[in-house]
Amino acid sequence: MFSQIPLGAVVLGAALPFALAGPLASSKRGLCFVPNTTTPEDDTIWVQKPTDLTWYYNYDPTPSDVFAKVSQEEFEFVPMLWGVPPTPGDTAFLDTVKGLIKDGRNITHIMSFNEPDGPAEYGGANADPSAAAQAWVDNIIPLRKMGVKVGLPACTGSPDGLAWLKTFLDSCSTIVSDGGNKKNCSYDFVPIHWYGDFGGLASHMGEYSATFPNKSIWITEYNFNDQALSTTQDFYNMSAEYFDRLDFVERYSLFGAFRSDVSNVGANAAMLNKDGELTDIGAWYLGRPGTGVDPQSGKGVNGDSKSAGLRAVGVPQIGGVLLGAGFAVGVMMGL
Ligand SMILES: *[C@@H]1O[C@H](CO)[C@@H](O)[C@H](O)[C@H]1NC(C)=O
Ligand SMILES: *[C@@H]1O[C@H](CO)[C@@H](O)[C@H](O)[C@H]1NC(C)=O
Ligand SMILES: *[C@@H]1O[C@H](CO)[C@@H](O)[C@H](O)[C@H]1NC(C)=O
Ligand SMILES: *[C@@H]1O[C@H](CO)[C@@H](O)[C@H](O)[C@H]1NC(C)=O
Ligand SMILES: *[C@@H]1O[C@H](CO)[C@@H](O)[C@H](O)[C@H]1NC(C)=O
Repeated sequence: MFSQIPLGAVVLGAALPFALAGPLASSKRGLCFVPNTTTPEDDTIWVQKPTDLTWYYNYDPTPSDVFAKVSQEEFEFVPMLWGVPPTPGDTAFLDTVKGLIKDGRNITHIMSFNEPDGPAEYGGANADPSAAAQAWVDNIIPLRKMGVKVGLPACTGSPDGLAWLKTFLDSCSTIVSDGGNKKNCSYDFVPIHWYGDFGGLASHMGEYSATFPNKSIWITEYNFNDQALSTTQDFYNMSAEYFDRLDFVERYSLFGAFRSDVSNVGANAAMLNKDGELTDIGAWYLGRPGTGVDPQSGKGVNGDSKSAGLRAVGVPQIGGVLLGAGFAVGVMMGL
């Protein structure tokens, strides 16, 4: 199943965009929020006007305090059930989201497991598909019944992702089956991750759109990691133009809302330089003109003006879990 590129991939891959003028405004763009407590002054950059960002997620079920004053209508928070709760029958996620709704927050979309097919050391939830299916039945199905749009688990960019999703959906059908009649577990959109070049991204999207016809796709983590600046910028422009043009791409969020010296996807992929200034990509992503700021410029918090080099040190981390490292596999797939 994965040894051949499906038809959809060929069609999409052939439609390589010609990035004449770069992408400008887009209502599909959101913030993949990976704050660092050392530099809290960076956290509000993303909501300062003008900004194109209409939504955010933070790998967590509850909104980030720093955005408390920004309304859900202006900047939609999307809760995430990051991993499978260790205790079967745990409905803490469901209860939390219901609580947000009860408190008046208009939650319209939720996301489920983050890189369940990936190991913890690369930021994956490393989940057993059948345990994940039970957690989905317990937490996600009741929310969908309330009218909330739900996203399938967001797998890594590796071929293991689709295999994991198939096993997950089969397990889910078995749990919800009505006597002998298997029922499908329903979902509204399919989040995907990608780290690698544009051709690989287009092919990966083609594979998913062929596997999940008529479903919206969200690209919730992506970048061409560890590249020269011009390569990174070309990739950024081509992919943003592509996402904006395709109707089945409902939303996207670049993995890069952090400083270059703590980037785990390469310094040039970061939207901020070492002093927290928006780079060209950072500004373009917000729908503004480029800044000309070199990602590797700045002194950094320790006043060390030495370049961190292409492969930056430090890894964005939340709740003790490494994030966003589908790239280890994505790079191999993408090159
Ligand atoms: C990328 O898009 C921006 C914004 O439209 C544009 O200013 C820039 O020249 C483009 N860069 C490349 C390398 O295409
Ligand atoms: C919640 O948001 C959705 C999407 O923007 C909108 O259609 C709906 O009317 C809103 N509901 C309430 C109660 O504000
Ligand atoms: C369940 O999903 C499978 C695979 O997508 C599809 O072939 C089948 O028709 C679906 N069954 C129902 C009852 O929707
Ligand atoms: C996709 O949507 C089209 C148009 O609504 C419909 O004809 C087609 O059967 C759908 N395909 C699947 C696999 O659901
Ligand atoms: C946060 O930033 C500091 C200072 O740049 C850095 O030393 C640390 O590694 C960063 N933490 C994470 C989790 O990236």
